[in-house]
Amino acid sequence: MSKLKNVVVSQEEILEQNQYMQKATTLLAKRYRDKDLPLAHVHSYGCQQNVNDGEKIKGMLAQMGYGFCDSPDSADLVIYNTCAVRENAEDRVFGNVGALKHNKKRNPNMIIGLCGCMMQQQHIADKIKNSYSHVDIVFGTHALHHLPQIMHNALIDNKRIFEISQSDGVIAEGLPIRHDGTIKANLPIMYGCNNFCTYCIVPFVRGRERSRNAEDIIQEAKKLVSDGYKEITLLGQNVNSYGNDLEDGINFAELLKQLNAIDGDFWIRFMTSHPKDCSKELVDMMADCQKVCNHIHLPVQSGSDRVLKLMNRKYTSQAYLELAKYAKEKIPNLSLTSDIIVGFPGEEYEDFCQTLDLIKKVEYNSLFTFIYSKRVGTKAAEMPDNVSKEQKGLWFRELLAAQQIIGSKKYGAYVGKRQKVLVEGEGKIQGNITGRNEASMIVDFVGDKSLVGSFVDVKIIGAKNSYLIGELEG
Ligand code: 5AD
Ligand code: SF4
Repeated sequence: MSKLKNVVVSQEEILEQNQYMQKATTLLAKRYRDKDLPLAHVHSYGCQQNVNDGEKIKGMLAQMGYGFCDSPDSADLVIYNTCAVRENAEDRVFGNVGALKHNKKRNPNMIIGLCGCMMQQQHIADKIKNSYSHVDIVFGTHALHHLPQIMHNALIDNKRIFEISQSDGVIAEGLPIRHDGTIKANLPIMYGCNNFCTYCIVPFVRGRERSRNAEDIIQEAKKLVSDGYKEITLLGQNVNSYGNDLEDGINFAELLKQLNAIDGDFWIRFMTSHPKDCSKELVDMMADCQKVCNHIHLPVQSGSDRVLKLMNRKYTSQAYLELAKYAKEKIPNLSLTSDIIVGFPGEEYEDFCQTLDLIKKVEYNSLFTFIYSKRVGTKAAEMPDNVSKEQKGLWFRELLAAQQIIGSKKYGAYVGKRQKVLVEGEGKIQGNITGRNEASMIVDFVGDKSLVGSFVDVKIIGAKNSYLIGELEG
């Protein structure tokens, strides 16, 4: 075993939770004796890591005997798996939790649970405790694998349960999982973050970086492939530092190589890559691995060195541009995407213009753009912030307009090209099906539903702002 033992939850503890699942099953059978199945509504906000946690929650609940429903209206149990990365995500959660008061009035037996990144923050858990008395259970990110015990206790009596332990985080292997889809799956390779970018709450709510053992990851990937999944996205806050905490010397590039060697026709993606650790070795490995998509999501956040320093990003715009250039030269048809924060405390218009400059140089396929959101407890929250909301809004729109021009040029350049597409579902227009190419761009084309879940070759015949139009090749 290569993993430092203290972060891995022991098999005895996992076994104990399995026993709680069995006990919960008996309690549920008694409580809902007139019903076929008690129903749970589980909703995850935010990033793919959170979605993956939500799938584990559903896996554990399914084992306890819950079925699932899409709305809280018909649910016996509601769990909101929350996100703390920006204020608007938090506001949405508070709004939706407030609305559950009416559901609970209609169905007093309903159990309401909140978990995830928001709940890991003490001031939020306290707010729920004091002002949202209809919420029954609250647990933080480090208590996910205790859900069976928490549910068991909630079913035994009506006491409210709060489990928010301060911890550097653990790794719990062997939890049941119920994937949301059948074509694409997420596979966490590591948890937590050590970077402490000054705007970001993630290191505070998800603990320190810890890597899963390569054997566990490879086994899970093999199972996904044999279950018919065609795309696996490797997850980590900073996948490039995979293995730094392991004793066997494995790094992310080597892990990619091992995953690429698994038999079968499937794609490998990964998220997210921190530019400070994205090595040439990794780029070279991507170029060598056939199954690894030619797409890197490489969040730059800002094009101004002054702002990057304030953000504690540990690279310069020059270093970023050199890396992007190297990657473009090495990986044919590389698609680069990025995250940008507008209106960081202390950012001035000249800094913002440097961001505009950088996106024009890199020519991203697409961007995820955010207005800076103050997060309690982070360093940036203490920095003077003199730019008004209105001003930030103007910069934000200027950024979108600039990217729109770049995006349409990039999308337009695909017209006439042949693309391998993974078909994901029916298209918006009747008779169309839709999927994504390796660059993760949406491709819509006429085709039969029976192709959903398979790879097809498509000729691109048109380009819109956010998707391509194709024609199935015979
Ligand atoms: N405000 C705005 N955007 C943020 N992000 C993270 N924290 C904040 C914040 N406080 C963005 C970053 C990150 C993405 C996942 O979310 O761009 O890359
Ligand atoms: Fe947040 Fe920075 Fe860690 Fe990403 S790398 S999760 S932005 S602290």
